[in-house]
Amino acid sequence: MRFFAVLSLLSTAAFANQLGVVGYAGNSAETCNTCHSGGAMPTVSLTGPTTLQAGQTGDYRLTVTGGAGSRAGMNVAVDSPAAQLLGVAGDSVSFGNEVHHAASRAFTSGRATFAFKLLAPPFAGPVRLFGAGNSCNGNGSTSGDRAGFTTLTISITGGTTAPRIVTAPTATPETVTTATTRISVVGADDQPEAALTYTWSLASGPGAVTFAPNGTNTAKQTTATFARAGEHVVRVLATDAQGQSAASTVRIVVQSTLTGIAVTPQIGEVKPGDVLQFSARAQDQFGSTLMTPSTFTWSVTGGGAIASTGRFVAGMRLGGPHVVQAVAAGRSGAGQVRVVQQVTVADLTPPSVTLISPRAGEKKAGRFLVEVKVDDDVGVARAEVMINDVSAAVATAAPWRLEVDVATLQKGTALVKVLAFDAAGNRAESAAIEVTLDDPTTPGPAGCSSAPGGFSVIVLSVLVRRRSARAIAVRRP
Ligand code: HEC
Repeated sequence: MRFFAVLSLLSTAAFANQLGVVGYAGNSAETCNTCHSGGAMPTVSLTGPTTLQAGQTGDYRLTVTGGAGSRAGMNVAVDSPAAQLLGVAGDSVSFGNEVHHAASRAFTSGRATFAFKLLAPPFAGPVRLFGAGNSCNGNGSTSGDRAGFTTLTISITGGTTAPRIVTAPTATPETVTTATTRISVVGADDQPEAALTYTWSLASGPGAVTFAPNGTNTAKQTTATFARAGEHVVRVLATDAQGQSAASTVRIVVQSTLTGIAVTPQIGEVKPGDVLQFSARAQDQFGSTLMTPSTFTWSVTGGGAIASTGRFVAGMRLGGPHVVQAVAAGRSGAGQVRVVQQVTVADLTPPSVTLISPRAGEKKAGRFLVEVKVDDDVGVARAEVMINDVSAAVATAAPWRLEVDVATLQKGTALVKVLAFDAAGNRAESAAIEVTLDDPTTPGPAGCSSAPGGFSVIVLSVLVRRRSARAIAVRRP
């Protein structure tokens, strides 16, 4: 049998809407003036009711006066996730709980005004609007323009009291060397605390996290189970019977920790006097390959002798199974060997693995493709992409499809290589190449045509095509 594998690493940027941007309303470091510059500062005002009933919708306007004064655009954000900004047809469009201009608009009588709506939260408290208005010269570029900023605080009255988080979530342990940690949180409400439900989710992180229990009152103490090493931000939502909620987050670092050593072959057969090569792979608590330790102390309980390289030379006596052990850093893994007259299966040929794309020196951001060709005389059992010697994606079975979130990778220079293992555990490593990983969240240059906060996902797919299905003849080395 012969297998052929192609791995492709693809990423897609998230795009939002044709016109307008969100994320530049003045509530964060980046504003319209990150890109637009040169013009005079306009005056921007937000008008509308400064008091709203809980759950009521109010009509608001953002007005731009002064500055270059030819064409204007806007972006409004709100500080409360329980409030909702809504678009008004022709004037504004909502996206990600912000609104932006539906289309850039000409100044008339020295001003440009955009209408939008605010749906108040179902509970009392202050809500703050952030408004950006860009006064442009209409040259279709970012030069000669400038944005001004303002805020408007609206007090919400009536409604019920939202729950609050009394004790922010804490993880024990906070730095996890296994796959689980205990997290607890304490909430409160105007109703008894027992009526609150606690719902946990992953805010950011390299892999899925499950929580048990979840979505109940008892979930104020939960166990989180991780699928990958790396930094995770976990979010809890305490929700009352009215659907009002309070959120909080906790940062949990899962450290890739040596937990085991996999020895291959698991059961080896060898003729008297012949050689059988054993190999070992250090793995973390998720089964990902660790590049260190890379040397192992080998021993065998009988049947022959094993060298420090894992090379077993059988004695002349038939028998077994004898236990072959690899030890490193206080961990051990075992395989077996039998000395037999007739060997049934032996695959001693490692796969070959070649990195086709990306090429050394390439700069990668947004979409990119990594192709790897893996060949083996028996079968590919595992393909693993290592980025800076840390396992970034693993495929162990069809459909040979993996995802890596670029956001979890460190930007800058990165060494990329691929490990391949065949069914017998023979291992191959592609040459490492150096690429530059760029920040994938940089807004697109098509002015106001792409939303910020985009994320990229690398999709790694491994296609294994069986070229022929024929038992291999075993040749002694
Ligand atoms: C990431 C860079 C970037 C940011 C941030 C940005 N813009 Fe722009 N904007 C552009 C570019 C590039 C153009 C020109 C091409 C186009 O119109 O798509 C443009 C054009 C415009 C125009 C048309 C200008 C004209 O002269 O006709 C308006 C209006 C506008 N932007 C409003 C805004 C507002 C409002 C904000 C902030 C909320 C903002 N932009 C933030 C890049 C940006």
